[in-house]
Amino acid sequence: MRIVALTSLLATSTRALHSSLPGFSTFRHTNSKALFQRQMTVRSKEALLGCPIIPLYDNTPHPAIGFGTYKVGFIPSSASSAVAAAAPTTVERTAEECVADALSVGYRFLECAEFYGNESEVGKAIKASGIPREELFICSKVWTTTIEKGEDAIREQLEKTLSDLGTDYVDLYLIHWPVPGKHVDAYKVLEKLKSEGKIINIGVSNYAVEDYKELMENGVSVKPAVNQIEINPFLFRKNTIDFFKKEGVVLQSYRSLRDGKAFDNPTVVKIAESHGKTAAQILGRWCVQKGFVYIPKSVKKERMIENAEVFDFELSDEDMNELDSLTTPDAFTTFEGLYRKCVNRDTSKDGTLEGVKMEITCD
Ligand SMILES: NC(=O)c1ccc[n+]([C@@H]2O[C@H](COP(=O)([O-])OP(=O)(O)OC[C@H]3O[C@@H](n4cnc5c(N)ncnc54)[C@H](OP(=O)(O)O)[C@@H]3O)[C@@H](O)[C@H]2O)c1
Repeated sequence: MRIVALTSLLATSTRALHSSLPGFSTFRHTNSKALFQRQMTVRSKEALLGCPIIPLYDNTPHPAIGFGTYKVGFIPSSASSAVAAAAPTTVERTAEECVADALSVGYRFLECAEFYGNESEVGKAIKASGIPREELFICSKVWTTTIEKGEDAIREQLEKTLSDLGTDYVDLYLIHWPVPGKHVDAYKVLEKLKSEGKIINIGVSNYAVEDYKELMENGVSVKPAVNQIEINPFLFRKNTIDFFKKEGVVLQSYRSLRDGKAFDNPTVVKIAESHGKTAAQILGRWCVQKGFVYIPKSVKKERMIENAEVFDFELSDEDMNELDSLTTPDAFTTFEGLYRKCVNRDTSKDGTLEGVKMEITCD
C-alpha cells in the first residue's frame, strides 16, 4: 500500500539516485560518540536504511527529507501569515493526527519548534506510533522570547520540549532567530546542553552570513551543524548558500514549497508536465537535487506521500537553470524586510530595529 510504497520508494530510488545528489551519501557512518553510535547502529538496520541522508560535518547522518510541523494542528498567534487570523477555522486536524500520518507513511525526521506550540501533540503521535526513538531524527528550536531571557529559560524550555516530545535528547536543537545581542550567549548555552548529552547537534536558523560570522568570532567552540533558512526557486540566495556550503554547514530548506503559493507558476507547471509530476514535486526535487534538507509541511496524508516522491526522477540542467532564474531582485528586498521584521519578533524589542543588522548578505 502507499505506506509501504513510500518506504520502498525511498530505498530503491535512493539507490538509483543518491550518488548523483550533492552531499548525499549512504546511511552508514562512524562517529566516536556513544550516544550517536547507539542511534546510528539501530537506524542503519531499521526504517531509515536506504533513506537518502546528508552527513553533517561530524558525519551524523541527517535524513534528507523531514516533516515540517509549523501550523500543524495549531497556529501561533504571532504567525506572520494572514491565515493566523482565521486559525480556529483553518486548523482541520490535530497535530497528533497529522504527525501520526506522517510517521505512518514513512517520515522519520520531525522538524519541530517551541514556537509551533504543538510539541506535546507531536509527542503523543510519536508515543502512539511505537517507533523506537533511535529510528527517529528529531529537531527542535528555541524561540526568540526564550533566547532573550537567557540561560535558565533556555534550559527550562529544552526540558519542556524533551518532556513534550517524550524523549531524553534531541538530534538537533536550533537557535530559531539570531536575536540581536542575545543569540551568541544563547548558542553558548546550547553548547553546554550538548556536552550534557541532551542535544546531539547544535544548529541555527535564519542566520545571515553576518550572524554566523558574529557567532564564530565570539568564542563559540562548536560550529553550527545546520542553518535552516527559506530556500526555493523564488528565493535562491546563491551567495549565502555558497558561503554556508563552504563552511560545511548543511542547509535545511524551509518554505521549499513556497508555502503552497507558487504551484501555478508557468515555468514550474511546464517542467511538471514534462516529467509527469506535480508542481509540488518539482519544487521538492529542485530542493533535494541542490543538496538541501527538504522539510515539506502538509496536514493531508496524500500530500505527505506526494511530497516524499521526489527521489525517483531527475531534473535536467536546463530545468534546474530555469528554476534558479525564478528569483528576482525584488525577492531579495522582500527577504531583507522580513529578516528585519522577524529577528526581534515577540521579544521586548518587537516592532523596532533595535540592534538589527542593517547590512546583511541578502542574495
Ligand atoms: N525556521 C523558520 O523560521 C521556519 C519558518 C517557516 C517554516 N519552517 C519549517 O519548514 C516547514 C515547511 O515550511 P512551511 O510549512 O512554511 O511551508 P511549505 O512546506 O513550503 O508549504 C506548506 C503549504 O503548502 C501546502 N502544501 C503542502 N504540500 C502540498 C501539495 N503537495 N500540494 C498542494 N499544497 C501543498 C500546505 O497545505 P496543507 O497543509 O493544507 O496541505 C501548506 O499550506 C515548516 O513546517 C517548519 O517546520 C521553519
